[in-house]
This record gives sequence, structure tokens and C-alpha cells, in this order.
Amino acid sequence: MGKILVTGGAGYIGSHTSLALTQAGYEVIVYDNLSTGRVDAVLPPARLVVGDLKDRDKLDKLMREEKFQAIIHFAASIVVPESVENPLKYYLNNTSNTTSLIALAVKNNIPNFVFSSTAAVYGMPEKVPVNEQSPLMPINPYGRSKVMSEWVIRDASFAHPDFNFIILRYFNVAGADPLGRIGQSTPDATHLIKVACQAALGLRESLSIFGTDYPTPDGTGIRDYIHVVDLADVHVLALKFLEQGKPSGIYNCGYGHGYSVREIIDAVKKVSGVDFKVIETGRRPGDPAQLVADPGKLLNEMNWKPKYDDIEEIVRTAYNWEKKLRG
Ligand code: UD1
Repeated sequence: MGKILVTGGAGYIGSHTSLALTQAGYEVIVYDNLSTGRVDAVLPPARLVVGDLKDRDKLDKLMREEKFQAIIHFAASIVVPESVENPLKYYLNNTSNTTSLIALAVKNNIPNFVFSSTAAVYGMPEKVPVNEQSPLMPINPYGRSKVMSEWVIRDASFAHPDFNFIILRYFNVAGADPLGRIGQSTPDATHLIKVACQAALGLRESLSIFGTDYPTPDGTGIRDYIHVVDLADVHVLALKFLEQGKPSGIYNCGYGHGYSVREIIDAVKKVSGVDFKVIETGRRPGDPAQLVADPGKLLNEMNWKPKYDDIEEIVRTAYNWEKKLRG
């Protein structure tokens, strides 16, 4: 089994993927600047190298010394409203840094690259479920920084046929390691399931529903929530896929069905046993009514077998993690 460089491996999805990789027998070196990641999210035997993607000399040296067989690239800025206020941060930290990372990968003959992209590349899709051919119409700099990174990766692979990639477009990632070792730790996260768990634990006074007049059965937004452990497994599959010489490609990561905000709130209330306060407010700008993946390509081509496609299980693991964080 080979050695894998995981950028952003001290973060939420990166840490779960690093764990899945070590469990599959890979040797993992995490490269993370700890801007949002945590040292204790890097579980041994994975090793942590603290560094920034901007530090090309450090990365180049690491690649020369360690001779990685693949890179899984998570490290990025991901806060949509921040990307509107500070777009250059997003184009530098996401698009430019991805470009220089790929240049180094090509220079050091690292053949395989797995990239964290997002359903935000689709913007406000007119049709759901969304397949990979749906038009790319991102509506904010975060989404655009990821679309641009995708093009950099595709063009680099076209020009350098020994450089292969899998681009994974994540839908709404939630949940935590069922054994409670790692989870979503960002202190000011705005994601619905995390916020609802915090409300159930009394860490917030209430939860606001952003919009009750969407054209959905109960009027609230619908999302495709994928358990982070299933998503971590997709990265291992993607790596093996490339190792077997299968072609580069782009894959949506979701279950193919969604839950409304109200359904999520009901699930969190049921799992926690706490009837926390819910306030109905107006829509949040930029929120599509529905965002649901068509995961057919992933299921068929990579033979992905999700294990946690169960909203109560997602909520239970997220809630247990939130309880642990609270102490
Ligand atoms: C967000 C990002 C998306 C990113 C994804 C994963 C935005 C607009 N989108 O997705 O680009 O890829 O995270 O990082 O930021 N909601 C409430 N009350 C809350 C929080 C959320 O009603 O307190 C609703 C939202 O309006 C939405 C759903 O819950 O309908 C999910 O929201 P959220 O968890 O923030 O994720 P997204 O906005 O779908």
C-alpha cells in the first residue's frame, strides 16, 4: 500500500477520510495549516505536517522526500458569505493554491489526484436530482473558485496524460465517526444539522428556519445529506479506481434523496428527546429550494455501497459528537 498526501486532513471531511485510508492500509501524511483544522483530528498512524499550501518549497521538499502515490486535496476555504465579502481570499486559497499543488504533483510525478469539489458548482439547479452533466452555474465566489479549480485539474490531466484525477462534488455532508473519535469541530459552523444539535443541547436559544415558502411539500428547503463516513469511503474507492488504471472523471456524492429543514428538525428532536425552540424566518439569500444528487455514476462505476443512508443515524452521530465537544 502506498503513501498518500492528504491536504486539509485535520479538517472535518479530511480527518474522516484519513481514518478510512489508514484503515484500508494506506500510509497517510496530512498537510494542514490548522487554520480551521485540529491537531487531535489527525488520528495515528496518520502523521501531521503543519504547513500552508502557499509554502511551495516546503510542499516540494515533502513530495521529493516522501514519494507519494496520490494526493487527496481537501484544504480550502468553504464559507459562502465570506467568499462574497472576500473573493480574492477564495481565488488565492482555493484556485491558486490548487494550481500550484497540481504543478508540484506533475513535477514530482505523482500520478493520482482526488479533489474535493461541491454541489455549489451547480448554483440553483432547475432540475433535481442533479447529474454531472447539469450546467455549472455557481452563484458565489466559493462555487466559482471550485469550478475554476476543476478546470485547472482537467486541463492539466489533458496536457499531462500521466496525471489522473477524480473530482468529487459533495452535497450536504453531515454526521460523525460512529465511535465518536472525530467530528465536525468548526466553532461557528452554520450547517443545519450541527446548529440543530447545538439547539437541542441548549448551546443556542433557538433554531431559525430560513424560508417556509419554497415550492416544496412543506415549504422548507430540501437537501441531500450524506454521512461523512460514507463520503470518506468514496475517497478510498476513488483512489483504488485510479490505481486500477480506470479513467479520470467527475462524480456527484449524495444519496439521491433529500430531507426538508422540518424533517431534519423532527429527526434531531426525536434523537435528542429535546423539543427546542424553532423560529420561522425569511429565506437566506442564495439558497436553492432543492439540491439533491443523482449519484448513479458513483454507484455504477465505482460500485459504491453506502452504509449510513439513514437520517437518524446521521443525526445520532452528529448529536453525540456535539455532546462530546460540549464536554
Ligand atoms: C452550504 C453551502 C454550500 C456548501 C455546503 C457544504 C450556502 C448557501 N451553501 O450548503 O455551498 O457546499 O454548505 O459546506 O452556504 N437552514 C436553516 N436554518 C439554519 C441553517 C440552515 O433553515 O440555521 C436551511 C438552509 O436554508 C438550507 C438547509 O437548511 O435549506 C441546509 O443549509 P446548510 O446546512 O447551511 O447547507 P447549504 O446551504 O445547503
